[in-house]
Amino acid sequence: SLSLRPTPSLSNASYSQTVELADIEWDNLGFGLQPTDYMYIMKCQQGGTFSKGELKRFGNIELNPSAGVLNYGQGLFEGLKAYRKEDGNILLFRPEENALRLQMGAERMCMPFPTVDQFVQSVKDTVLANKRWIPPTGKGSLYIRPLLMGSGPVLGLAPAPEYTFLIYVSPVGNYFKEGLAPINLIIENELHRATPGGTGGVKTIGNYAAVLKAQSAAKAKGYSDVLYLDCVHKKYLEEVSSCNIFVVKGNNISTPAIKGTILPGITRKSIIDVARNQGFQVEERQVSVDELLDADEVFCTGTAVVVSPVGSVTYHGKRVSYGEGIGAVSQQLYNTLTRLQMGLTEDVMNWTLEL
Ligand code: COI
Repeated sequence: SLSLRPTPSLSNASYSQTVELADIEWDNLGFGLQPTDYMYIMKCQQGGTFSKGELKRFGNIELNPSAGVLNYGQGLFEGLKAYRKEDGNILLFRPEENALRLQMGAERMCMPFPTVDQFVQSVKDTVLANKRWIPPTGKGSLYIRPLLMGSGPVLGLAPAPEYTFLIYVSPVGNYFKEGLAPINLIIENELHRATPGGTGGVKTIGNYAAVLKAQSAAKAKGYSDVLYLDCVHKKYLEEVSSCNIFVVKGNNISTPAIKGTILPGITRKSIIDVARNQGFQVEERQVSVDELLDADEVFCTGTAVVVSPVGSVTYHGKRVSYGEGIGAVSQQLYNTLTRLQMGLTEDVMNWTLEL
């Protein structure tokens, strides 16, 4: 456990060069919290700006019981990953995109936000302080979870008087227990994840609490996760609980357009560019359930899920299968993206940041 192992002091300049791997079982990492050494905390008053944060030992935080985030859900999160390259250097994938998305969400949730530079610098500091927790090349990645929350006390409904930006990290492997084997989705007909004018397009914590009920029911029936439909027509695809969705038909790849009810995924955006570069015709538009059921291949994208192939979709009790293993297009896009993220191919898009 954490307390039994000596941790080099942060003032040791050679720390990030000489540090060894944490003593855990690196094979078969899943997606669960492994406590690490440090977390980053930066606070700001309402109406003020974030100025200086600090690294602290990872552990519980104290919150006033009337904190805005606990009472009224004034909170956002982000997710990004750091990979350990074979040469020992560390790569972040498009961290400025997470910073910009957090800013957009903060604006929607009436919260102050860090600058892009503050966000990226604090992510770097947190990753380097926890370097020994970045999995060896090929074993997984370090998942980075920034949080922005109303930490000050409120009783009546109002924006909180104080805000906390916090980053913690955890080594992770595959999100779905299936790994790269196809997952089985069920389309949800009753419950909806988001509504026009709501907060579906930002990464607010409540969006994720809202899908737990349908997700639990689906898992109890043996499905991997739930695919949501638009709440107006109950006909167009939105997203899966924790990832975006893509539908492949011939040389055509379609994915629901960003219209405020789905999360603008950074992996989604990257896969669109990667696929276009490879000659696919990619369309961001309304995608109907009928098209999904008639697809050659279906896959999900997300920071946590990377590119996860879908093996079957169940709709109104009818199951449509897309074949046994991962489809050729999904595999090709997965390979291209992950090789880029791990620094195995030249970063022609200038997407990675080396630490
Ligand atoms: C991510 O992919 O990083 C997410 O934020 C989804 C989360 C439910 C794990």
